[in-house]
Amino acid sequence: MSLQHETEDALASRLVEVRRSLHREPELSNEEFRTTEKLRGWLNEAGIRVLDLPLKTGLIAEVGQGNGSIVAIRCDIDALPIEEQTGLPYASAIPGKMHACGHDFHSAVILGAALLLKKREHELPGKVRILFQPAEETGHGAEEVLASGGLDGVQAIFGLHNSPELPTGTFGTRTGALTAGVDRFEITVKGVGAHAAYPENGVDTIVTAAQIITMLQTVVSRLNSTQEPVVLSVTRINGGFTWNVLPEKVELEGTVRTYNEAIRRSIPAQMTRIIEGIAAAAGAEAKLHWYPGPPATVNHGEWADFTKAAAARAGYEVHDIPPQMGGEDFAYYLQQIPGAFVNIGTGPNHALHHPQFDVDETALLPAAKYFAALAEQALAKLKPQA
Ligand code: NI
Repeated sequence: MSLQHETEDALASRLVEVRRSLHREPELSNEEFRTTEKLRGWLNEAGIRVLDLPLKTGLIAEVGQGNGSIVAIRCDIDALPIEEQTGLPYASAIPGKMHACGHDFHSAVILGAALLLKKREHELPGKVRILFQPAEETGHGAEEVLASGGLDGVQAIFGLHNSPELPTGTFGTRTGALTAGVDRFEITVKGVGAHAAYPENGVDTIVTAAQIITMLQTVVSRLNSTQEPVVLSVTRINGGFTWNVLPEKVELEGTVRTYNEAIRRSIPAQMTRIIEGIAAAAGAEAKLHWYPGPPATVNHGEWADFTKAAAARAGYEVHDIPPQMGGEDFAYYLQQIPGAFVNIGTGPNHALHHPQFDVDETALLPAAKYFAALAEQALAKLKPQA
């Protein structure tokens, strides 16, 4: 008993060290070279095999044996272009970069789970792929991982995000959409420039753009069911350069957030009709440019319930949490592999992406133990009946 506690204390301080080491040297999406090197070093040291995959950054390790079931546990490893203002002794040593979304916490948790699973390697009824994913913040890392083939054969996948809103010791997830589909758009409105005193000589792009902005809100309020949440935000307007000239071009940019994939797919056409219709009425030309991001993260009911039951067994206070309008590229995995994404309480703390964001490090060891147990229990559930 006391030996077990000693080992756990050692692992707890190890995970704090790991997290702080990553925290000190944050790297942006697709530039996580040093982070990958450190993770590889820690895995090698523990005798955990790392798969040989065509990934520039990030890696996938594997623990377990046999030709039975395979499950995956995933963290993300990238940081953000934010100047840290925590004043912590282990604050970012790299100007303008910060682990302000807690991906250092995620990496330490999943490394901890890997170390715990390694100790039980010969008891595992299958294999666990341990995924350290690059480039979550830019929304494309998951697609790179899927293309690498590193998740081939995986029957269930689980991922985590820390939650500064949930107190340490609590756990949250839900069946169905947990995070939103995140798409970006740009709109260009072209008219004819004119002297501001003689608008009749031009085609006014400012008035046209203003009507487009206002009418676009009817995508939310008139064109889609009130039962299906949609957010459409115009976040940038660029046009004009002085007070007495009407510009010939205005650019708009913004984002659309949805949970329902069918609605998500129908929105570009709805927006195009409004944009082109208003422009035509004004004698201008307007065009929509659509940049799809990750779809909604839709948890599979059976596995969401499974993560909650495992969390309750691990001593967490379990909550059903409401869906969030933020995005998460774990969504791509859940389109192909059953599984669930969960939130681990590390709060109360500043919000994600805040320059004073921090996590409660006492949440590290329980989360690592939870993910090791979750993976092993999932393997047992998937084990073919003899
Ligand atoms: Ni994040």
